[in-house]
Amino acid sequence: MLAACADGNFVADNVQVNAADISDPGVNPLMIPELLEPALVDGVHRYELSIDESNHDFGSGTAVETISYNRQSILGPTLKWTSNANVELHVTNNLDAGTTAHWHGADVPADDDGGPHSRIDPGQTWVADFKVIQPAATLWYHPHMMGTSAEQVFHGAAGMIIVEDDNPAAADLPNTYGVDDIPVILQDREFGADGQLSFEIDNDDDGDLNPDLTVNGTFDPYTTVPAGPVRLRLLNGSQARVYELSVDNGSMVKIASDGGYLPSPAPMDTLVLGPGDRAEIVVDTTNGPAVLIDAAFGRVLELRPDSTLPAAQFPPAQLAEIDRITVDEIDADRSFSMNEVGDGWGINGKQMDMMRVDESVRFGDTERWTITVEDGIHTFHVHQTQFQILSINGEPPPAEDAGWEDTVLVTEDREVVIAARFDSYANPDVPYMYHCHILDHEDLGMMGQFNVVVG
Ligand code: C2O
Ligand code: CU
Ligand code: CU
Repeated sequence: MLAACADGNFVADNVQVNAADISDPGVNPLMIPELLEPALVDGVHRYELSIDESNHDFGSGTAVETISYNRQSILGPTLKWTSNANVELHVTNNLDAGTTAHWHGADVPADDDGGPHSRIDPGQTWVADFKVIQPAATLWYHPHMMGTSAEQVFHGAAGMIIVEDDNPAAADLPNTYGVDDIPVILQDREFGADGQLSFEIDNDDDGDLNPDLTVNGTFDPYTTVPAGPVRLRLLNGSQARVYELSVDNGSMVKIASDGGYLPSPAPMDTLVLGPGDRAEIVVDTTNGPAVLIDAAFGRVLELRPDSTLPAAQFPPAQLAEIDRITVDEIDADRSFSMNEVGDGWGINGKQMDMMRVDESVRFGDTERWTITVEDGIHTFHVHQTQFQILSINGEPPPAEDAGWEDTVLVTEDREVVIAARFDSYANPDVPYMYHCHILDHEDLGMMGQFNVVVG
């Protein structure tokens, strides 16, 4: 059971974890996924990806069987996208099972989105091509196969996407990848007695929670950084776990939510990150080692300052303009109740059916969606669009939740109303998904389909 208190505590109280004492130093150097810059072919930014079986040492000396992209030992390279660029992504499936490649958080045409309808069979290559029409943000990619998303992601199939744009605020933020701009991919895992990964799907209210924390595939990591502001791009790539993060011996300000910069930096004590969510934070390491902490796992990552490294500037007061969605813009309302259905999970009483389109949105409309829960804890994720939170339990969102989002935590004590503009792409034939990003729930039916149609 998960205790979801009114003050935002989401600490699982029945799962033993192997926690690290924050007063000890980190043990293993944090693995930084390689940065994949595109090849420029006729003005198009082209990326080659493959998904393969691989092996990875998490830090215990065992070669653990994993799934990865581009033959990394685990995870995939970090893709760098540029706003307004035309991109082409070639994805080759070298697994002996089907997969897809979904660009989570990206505003792309439905047939380039990599949802369950864009299956890549073993040996096949799938090509997505689109223009990057969104601002700077931290997105990610992962498989979205009907019924096996949890298993493939748990084994390591996931990577980060960094979108860059010409916002002048970016130059004033820490932005040297792997040095003061660090990807932090949080995933809990379970290992069997043989040291290999041990996967299971859990029908429980809070999905399958695992006892060991890995950060970029590293147990108990530290990383050496400049003494000063350090940017962490937090990505919860876990099967089901919600993290409750804070910083010991350093301050934390949130500068970006799922879809990009906040209007201005928001100081925070505790940041709750549900499955699928991202947040960018800036941590100050001027006063010696700062430690990112989770309420269940203790130490997540030690930031070890080296004062010989050049330090960046602290974030500027203004980051981005956000065009707030107002109530008079709303053209349509819908509601989504996320609950148990049959022997699994569903939305509005229905389990996912690839042959059924559940909702039809009129191209150009702005919609308001109310999300409610009677049982379980869920993160509601919508493909294609970045939405805004209009209210949480009837109250306007706090500053740190008032940016662009594609994934939001909902519980029986946390009713969330969101709004989105569906004005970028229409396709009557290929639907987009909305679903719970607790991957157990998604694979057990908690997903629906909408299309965007001109009409
Ligand atoms: Cu992260 Cu439907 O996806
Ligand atoms: Cu997605
Ligand atoms: Cu769920």
